[in-house]
Amino acid sequence: MATKHIIVDDLSVEYLGATKKIYALQHVSLDINRGESIALVGESGCGKSTLGVSFINLLPLNSRITSGTIKFISNSKEIDIFKTPTSELQKLRWSKIVMMAQGALNAFNPVMRIRDHFIDTAYSHGWKNKTEILNKARYLLKRVHLDSERVLSSFPHELSGGMRQRVLLSLGLLLNPEVVILDEPTTALDILTQRNIIELLKELKKEFNFTLIFITHDLSLAAELADRVAVMYAGKAVEVGDVYDIFATPYHPYTAGLITSTPKLRGESTEVTSIPGSPPNLSEIFKGCPFYERCPLRSNVCINSQPKLTAVEEKDGHLVACHHASKNTLEHIKQGDWLSTIQ
Ligand SMILES: Nc1ncnc2c1ncn2[C@@H]1O[C@H](COP(=O)(O)OP(=O)(O)OP(=O)(O)O)[C@@H](O)[C@H]1O
Ligand SMILES: [Mg+2]
Repeated sequence: MATKHIIVDDLSVEYLGATKKIYALQHVSLDINRGESIALVGESGCGKSTLGVSFINLLPLNSRITSGTIKFISNSKEIDIFKTPTSELQKLRWSKIVMMAQGALNAFNPVMRIRDHFIDTAYSHGWKNKTEILNKARYLLKRVHLDSERVLSSFPHELSGGMRQRVLLSLGLLLNPEVVILDEPTTALDILTQRNIIELLKELKKEFNFTLIFITHDLSLAAELADRVAVMYAGKAVEVGDVYDIFATPYHPYTAGLITSTPKLRGESTEVTSIPGSPPNLSEIFKGCPFYERCPLRSNVCINSQPKLTAVEEKDGHLVACHHASKNTLEHIKQGDWLSTIQ
């Protein structure tokens, strides 16, 4: 039986925009197990990063948590993230939960050599021995296949994007975190470099045994790396399950649409289609299913009643929020004429 590491319960987050509110997360519940690798996937704007920063309560000032909790379980103690004082949270970040935010590759201090990034991070968490810090940094940099001496004395701009991503990974592991959150870590990189980073992440996970939360819009990357997948749509988790179940038997038409719009990495090439339409405006709270407008399986019940995330009959741990969820959804979607062929 898997032990829970993070429990998200009924989380809602809104942003106060210039003229209106944006309901970025709407009643999201999700359990993350110790030692697993879970991918949060979905189209741009569905709330992935908002959930990512919520894990360590780094939401921006114009945001508000309007419902729910996030609990982090460490050494058998339950930590309520939103009730933890900032000083305690600062200790928790990097040492227990490390978040590599979207675009973090550009967040290195340009006037600091890489060695000083390691030293600063360790000092701010109470390490005092510089030799010890640098030895650990050297080990970690070698572990990500970098020339540690050259990298330590470099400035960030002297390194390529792929190298900076590796440095960031080793910096993130400096304090042996229990949870590593990576928000679109490979988006800015070419496809071969992306593959290398994915392989590297698998190796690092094996050695350091952290829980990995991997945020991506790329379903094929999720398939490569994750044990479980949480599919998000319009601020909600709409399907959660084991990676094989999600890909072989998606119950939600949106998940099925994502699968048929993702080119296969291996095996025979198949037709790739796109989901017509675009995600809804998040400045309204949905009365019914947020996928209604784009859904080929919709019916009247979907207009006024919000489907709840519930277990599918066949599989333990496979959850879906759809009034018409069925194990035949992928077949229906493939046969349907609602998908526009793009290739
Ligand atoms: N600081 C902010 N102020 C106002 N609105 C925001 C802010 N950050 C995000 N949003 C809005 O909240 C919604 C969710 O954004 P979020 O960044 O979580 O999506 P995402 O799934 O990470 O998207 P992407 O794949 O493009 O990174 C979007 O509608 C976005 O415009
Ligand atoms: Mg994002």
